[in-house]
Amino acid sequence: MTELNPFRVGLIGCGNISGQYLSTLARLPGVSVTACADIDPERAAAVAREHGIPRATGVDALLADPDIDAVLNLTIPAVHATVTREAIAAGKHVWSEKPLALDRADVDRIREEAARAGVRVGCAPDTFLGAGLQSSIGAIVDGAIGRPVAATAFFTTPGPEAWHPDPEFFYAPGGGPLLDIGVYPITALVAVFGAVEAVSAQSQRSVPTRTIGSGAKAGQEIPVEVATHYSVSLRFAGGGLATLVTSFDVPAHELPHIEVYGVEGTMTLPDPNRFDGGPRVRRRGENAWTTLPHTNGYLGLQRGIGLAELAGSIEAGVPHRASLDLAAHVLDTMLAIDESAASGAEVVLRTTCEAPPPVAKLIEAPAG
Ligand SMILES: NC(=O)c1ccc[n+]([C@@H]2O[C@H](COP(=O)([O-])OP(=O)(O)OC[C@H]3O[C@@H](n4cnc5c(N)ncnc54)[C@H](O)[C@@H]3O)[C@@H](O)[C@H]2O)c1
Repeated sequence: MTELNPFRVGLIGCGNISGQYLSTLARLPGVSVTACADIDPERAAAVAREHGIPRATGVDALLADPDIDAVLNLTIPAVHATVTREAIAAGKHVWSEKPLALDRADVDRIREEAARAGVRVGCAPDTFLGAGLQSSIGAIVDGAIGRPVAATAFFTTPGPEAWHPDPEFFYAPGGGPLLDIGVYPITALVAVFGAVEAVSAQSQRSVPTRTIGSGAKAGQEIPVEVATHYSVSLRFAGGGLATLVTSFDVPAHELPHIEVYGVEGTMTLPDPNRFDGGPRVRRRGENAWTTLPHTNGYLGLQRGIGLAELAGSIEAGVPHRASLDLAAHVLDTMLAIDESAASGAEVVLRTTCEAPPPVAKLIEAPAG
């Protein structure tokens, strides 16, 4: 994987988030996006023009191209599993946006088919690989707050219909704050505490419709088919409890992103939807917070570093961190949260995973 022999990526799904990925990948010489496709050919053509991608093509032609090593799946949640499985069937490695799939049966199919095809699957979020969360995790591993025993996490927004021009999918099955944004703190908490053992949750659909706030569809009403506010309790297999609130029903707030409570101190972690920010620590007996420096993780890069890490791991023959096991466990946790909210009972998880090992050092973005 060098500038002359890069990991060749085909993008499927040229929507809102594709620009952030393409900006990051353009800065990484070992990865090259060589083609892009969308069910809307005009979107693919526009993204190819804007980002200098050599070819805009149909989805089938992209999958049939022997000169593509991996598919970057940035489609909407309802088709993530289908597109991922088609890419695997075509012999491609896959990086998928979250969620990996909408049910456990599709996760099992993806796992079996990827193993049979000998390809790797990585899945968003990759924000936990950023310097903000990695430096937090590195400091916790080094004992900054003693053994972590509990956490609180809040990811609440007024809802994406204010800014996203095509926000329907956020309120359809596969959307909702749990799968869309709850996935970030849950992944970060698993990276700190390891696998979740059981969850208890309550949720509600607070209003039946939402109104699109921007773009060509501004003023249109969207039916709300999913819960939009969750109150969750998570218990970790290795010990530790976390409380999570995730919501599209919060006009404004003054809540922290994530706080982790150790036997010797508290750490506030940066926004798990971002790659930057720094951990702050206050140990027992101290009366002020100390901001810790960046010591671990990827600095100065955004969405796309998980795909780059996947490519580097394939070349080195080592596991990648934003792994299928991690994404499958986080999805299992989120499905269990919905099951607990529906039944009113605690749900014990059927999957487990290892906490991904911290990135051992700070890796700064190439200049430019
Ligand atoms: N927008 C964000 O800020 C953001 C941030 C993080 C993650 N994500 C995730 O990224 C994914 C995409 O989000 P987005 O905001 O870019 O959505 P979007 O609706 O703007 O873009 C999705 C694109 O996928 C295309 N598409 C849909 N089905 C397809 C298919 N079967 N084959 C090929 N193309 C298909 C659509 O035509 C569209 O261009 C979602 O899973 C979302 O959760 C988005």
